[in-house]
Amino acid sequence: MQLESLLSEFNKELGTVTKVADLLNLKAKYIGKQGPLADLMKNIKDASPEEKKRIGSVANEFKTSIEAIVSKKMLELEISEINASLEKDKTDISLTDSVLEKGLQAGGHHPVSIIQQEIEDIFISMGFEVLDGPHIEDEYHNFEALNIPATHPARDMQDTFWFADKKHLLRTHTSTIQVRGMKERKPPFRFVGPGKVFRCERTDASHEMVFHQLEGMMVGEDVSVGNLIYFMKTLLAEIFKRSVEVRLRPGFFPFVEPGFELDIQCLICGGKGCSVCKQVGWVELLPCGMVHPNVLKSGGIDPEKYNGFAFGLGLDRLVMMRYGIDDIRHLHSGDLRFNSQFKSY
Ligand code: DAH
Repeated sequence: MQLESLLSEFNKELGTVTKVADLLNLKAKYIGKQGPLADLMKNIKDASPEEKKRIGSVANEFKTSIEAIVSKKMLELEISEINASLEKDKTDISLTDSVLEKGLQAGGHHPVSIIQQEIEDIFISMGFEVLDGPHIEDEYHNFEALNIPATHPARDMQDTFWFADKKHLLRTHTSTIQVRGMKERKPPFRFVGPGKVFRCERTDASHEMVFHQLEGMMVGEDVSVGNLIYFMKTLLAEIFKRSVEVRLRPGFFPFVEPGFELDIQCLICGGKGCSVCKQVGWVELLPCGMVHPNVLKSGGIDPEKYNGFAFGLGLDRLVMMRYGIDDIRHLHSGDLRFNSQFKSY
């Protein structure tokens, strides 16, 4: 009888327990060494053998039922404690509208990256590979191998950032990619190499010290100026999604012979003259030419057997033409109001 009421008291107290530690205390209070059960067992020694047996079995039943209740409750408490801590530490890794409402902005692609990706795709569809090359270069890859020896006046045409050892430099053009590209393959091949280039120049609306080019090269047995013009026209039509006025002028670059300047009519002013086209109505966009025999030799290619064309596309100007941006300095401003205007590819 006494134990039955103890059990109902225990159950009542159990209802208020919410922590594992409290549950363990409650268990000790009822069936621990100082609890009523221990008292009962202490008194049992004076009882008759039948009494002892009866009390012993009732006490045992009491103990087992309390233990069973406690372990069931223990499990419940542990689960709810785990759930509570999961809830507390929860991180929402999805970018929800509520995050955006708090003022965070979704990222986007820089317009130069957008154009670069598009042009890579155009060339990939025409069977070109896409190559990469280091920003820090040596004199050989940036100049010598491209038919620009130390005494050549063309070295002064590109104001170079030299390292203190006077042997290394920040590449002044992506033409550096030509040499490694040629050495690593056998003709026929065609590849493009996009990337940053660096020149120690005064900055103005159309000049930056860091800008982007995309080099292109195609080498084979019968590559002609006709092929060059075809690829360049296809490229421009794809990029601008409309017909663009172009003109081809002779241009001098030590690594090509003959060399050309392919200009497009300024899309900012429609040819009337503005700061981007320096008031002439035309923008130099695509210097190109037939690869010089000395350059083929640097790449381990026999100029008697093979020839090719190469070009160096200025990506920043292309971006400016495409989006109507009148100052190249916006591209590096890091201004989110500027950057966020462009649609991702
Ligand atoms: N490397 C030249 C420059 O930065 C651009 C260039 C001109 C690349 C003619 C070429 C080329 O491949 O054929 O100014």
